[in-house]
Amino acid sequence: MKIALNGGEPVRQKFLPFNRPSIGNEEIEEVISTLKSGWITTGSKTKRFENKFQETIGVKHAIAVNSCTAALHLCLEACGVKSGDEVITTPYTFAATANVIEQLGAKTVFCDIENTTLNMDVSKLENIITDKTRVIIPVHFAGHPCDMDKIMEIASKKNIYVIEDAAHATEAVYKGRKIGTIGHMTCFSFYATKNLCCGEGGMVTTDDDEFAERIRIMSLHGMSKDAWKRYENSGSWYYEIIDCGFKYNFTDISASLGLWQLEKLEDNWEKRYEIVKKYNNFFEKYEIVTTPFVKENIKHSWHLYPLRINFEKLECDRKEFINALNAENIGASVHFIPLHIMPYYRNKYGFTNQSFPVAYEEYLKEITLPLFPDMTENDINDVCLAVDKLLKFFMTKIAVIKKIDNRELNLRSIKANQYLNEHEIMTKIKSYQAPAEFSRIREELERKVMEFVLDTISIYYEDESWDYLKEKINNEVEKVLNEN
Ligand SMILES: Cc1ncc(COP(=O)(O)O)c(C=O)c1O
Repeated sequence: MKIALNGGEPVRQKFLPFNRPSIGNEEIEEVISTLKSGWITTGSKTKRFENKFQETIGVKHAIAVNSCTAALHLCLEACGVKSGDEVITTPYTFAATANVIEQLGAKTVFCDIENTTLNMDVSKLENIITDKTRVIIPVHFAGHPCDMDKIMEIASKKNIYVIEDAAHATEAVYKGRKIGTIGHMTCFSFYATKNLCCGEGGMVTTDDDEFAERIRIMSLHGMSKDAWKRYENSGSWYYEIIDCGFKYNFTDISASLGLWQLEKLEDNWEKRYEIVKKYNNFFEKYEIVTTPFVKENIKHSWHLYPLRINFEKLECDRKEFINALNAENIGASVHFIPLHIMPYYRNKYGFTNQSFPVAYEEYLKEITLPLFPDMTENDINDVCLAVDKLLKFFMTKIAVIKKIDNRELNLRSIKANQYLNEHEIMTKIKSYQAPAEFSRIREELERKVMEFVLDTISIYYEDESWDYLKEKINNEVEKVLNEN
């Protein structure tokens, strides 16, 4: 059993991406009908999509925009966030969550994560709140809801707004309440890889009339209320710009996808959940691997399947593991590279890797495996087989390296001792030293020789002969694997 990276046969012939949108004929037909209708930008289908989304979540307002990033930006703006303010979020997220804070001139304050769900660790929240904190942005990582009761309790005590980043969490439920109904505002993503896919798109949900109105106005250049109706055939030519807004509106082409994706949301969730259960069953047996953690009384929306592998123990670089997985024709990704180690945030705030140690340590272990509704039974098995093949390969490699190490060490120390025994200096020392003193000198020389042996071994590992040694190791690994 040779791994594909070393020239072996890959687990499958065709590359399996880590995500592929599940688009059916219904979506395709709907897009075509929109294209033929003569109305392709914000219009009646966008309105229908908003209404349907609002009903699905069970919230008073749903405002469609062209990305979750735009949604987050608009919500922060609606809260009046400005230069001098502080906004708390997690470093374990995509850049969009924090970039919008920075764009408004406010300060990003990171709260480290818990090592179970990889969500914001609420026990660390109160300590980082100051008089300047205006908003908390919890991120429901991979689709697991954050501890919203605690976050809302802390926020309300301090008069702080909560804007949920639910980019991963469209179907998620927290203690019987749908995500999208808890915080002051919630932002969803309909990006190409998301559970509800429109290619690009986002939504803000809120029960607050004033926030909803502000967001609607600012999402379309700051045009006065109901000006979006000018995008209908019967709309008036007249509008007023009442503030300096953005161009964040959603289109009817995207809504054509969204309407059907919403219809299929729960079915697609069921399909992903079946895959998750199979992965969990398969990977739970490995001591070196941690499957996703799920708290009680929540519904996980399973946007991602983040597997954590103790690469340090596996004595393998994550990059090498992902390269090896790709060579087996299995796609994988990493969620997330923590924001505090990104050059912009590191330089601006003087962070080190250890500024948020949990986020950093968990990042080092994470790989995201393929998870999308159209995966076949064969696809799922191939992912399991490929990960299994690599785990076995790298675990066997550790054992073989240890064996080779010991063999090399023994050979060299025997040789070194032979040299000592045969060398004339020893006879000379013996001839004029008392026996006790001679033993001491010999012991010391032996120790020096061992140091030399260890030195040469580490040098040997670093020089170009490492390639030769690697080849030897790989051959040994294959021999051991074939024997078992
Ligand atoms: C946690 C999180 N927040 C926000 C975003 C931004 O979403 P969008 O691409 O819709 O702007 C993403 C995108 O991947 C995300 O993962």
